Amino acid sequence: MASREQFSSRTGFVMAAAGSAIGLGNIWGFPTQTASNGGAAFVLVYLLMAFCLAYPALMAELIIGRHARANIVTALRYIAPNKATRWLGTFVGGCGVVVASLILSFYTIVAGWMLAYLGQSITGLLSWQSASDWLVTFSFPRNLATGGLFMILTIAIVGKGVSGGIEKWSTRLMPMLLAIMVLLIVYVMTQPGAMAGLRLYLLPDLSHLEPSLIVDALGQAFFSLSLGVGTMLVYGSYLSEKENLPSLGATVTLVDSGVAFIAGLLILPAIYVAQAHGADIFDAQGNLYAGPNLIFQVLPALFDSMGTIGLGVALAFFTLMSIAALTSSISMLEVPVSLAAEETDLGRPKATLLIGGLVFVVSVLIMLNFDTLFDFVITLTTVYSQPILGLMLCIFVGWIWHRDNLLKEIKAGHPEIEGTWFWRIWPFYVKAFCPVLILAIVIPSFT
Ligand code: PFF
Repeated sequence: MASREQFSSRTGFVMAAAGSAIGLGNIWGFPTQTASNGGAAFVLVYLLMAFCLAYPALMAELIIGRHARANIVTALRYIAPNKATRWLGTFVGGCGVVVASLILSFYTIVAGWMLAYLGQSITGLLSWQSASDWLVTFSFPRNLATGGLFMILTIAIVGKGVSGGIEKWSTRLMPMLLAIMVLLIVYVMTQPGAMAGLRLYLLPDLSHLEPSLIVDALGQAFFSLSLGVGTMLVYGSYLSEKENLPSLGATVTLVDSGVAFIAGLLILPAIYVAQAHGADIFDAQGNLYAGPNLIFQVLPALFDSMGTIGLGVALAFFTLMSIAALTSSISMLEVPVSLAAEETDLGRPKATLLIGGLVFVVSVLIMLNFDTLFDFVITLTTVYSQPILGLMLCIFVGWIWHRDNLLKEIKAGHPEIEGTWFWRIWPFYVKAFCPVLILAIVIPSFT
């Protein structure tokens, strides 16, 4: 294979992989799922899923990627020993590419909303009333414009390649994201009502432990770690041989769960602060607002009630959301782009433009048929496809790939691996435990 780009440093990789993992799923999905699943009980189950199921699957992706040094389709074919398994590799890899593209198509719409509210916090400062109204009113032209802008940003970064685009921008944007989040938390904690939200978030009520909570937590963990669709696999393929994969994977899992947890410290107290400021935080059934209503009604009501400082807080909050979305969307687009750039003569810039354009066409189709397609695509990709594809990747590592080759790959950056707990537990874990558990959780939710 021609010489491939690599991340220029360990930090660069961690920033990019954490950038992929940390996204709307952490700052919006995790806190709102926690709110609608009864608080701290969900947090506990989520952490269990993240470390016991998602981390082993993440390792499977990183190891395959670094070994094969290729996109998901080529990589799965490369480790497959015979014709039938190579065919399976093409199929599973192909599904990964399609699912990553579909996730990007709805993510672009939601990220566009974040840009719209970011824009409104600026037009609000300038007292441009009609522009502000247009930006925050749901309409096809608004979705088209803001989603389109977001896709252009994503294409611009991915088109520049790995170290000059993805790594460079992740390394700049991730520290900014953390700083904004910490500032917002400090502010929200000083406001009346914050403690009620904190209590709901941190004190578990185990009566909420229902099977649906476990499926939600699993889906959320796989979504949050960007698993199953080949993003982590392709990022792994840009890693140097010298890197210690189990420790890198653990760092990414810890950082991702840590940021989700910290985001909960912001969002749940903010909901109750909004209530203390007079906002309605429960729906007609008496449940906490969770979906778009939370971000686009409850929180803006809170920002409004703060007077002029609220405009600054809104600006910071929606900048945070937009950055988080961008470092994730670039990793989604990298999945089909790496395939096209490696398997055709298009070249990266053209492939990026073409594929980004195609994915945006799908976004537009979803915008035009919003009521039927939006929730459907989200459930199909995140609740079912990601865990099932993650399971297939565990099967590739545990059953199809030869164990000696697997060991050789991990040993490259970690010569003492055979004496570690990781090597004692993980191979059995991905081979038997993860597939059975994922099936046991996902199958009942079909019925
Ligand atoms: N992990 C991202 C988030 O939490 O928002 C979402 C995501 C990124 C999902 C990349 C899938 C993916 F391939």
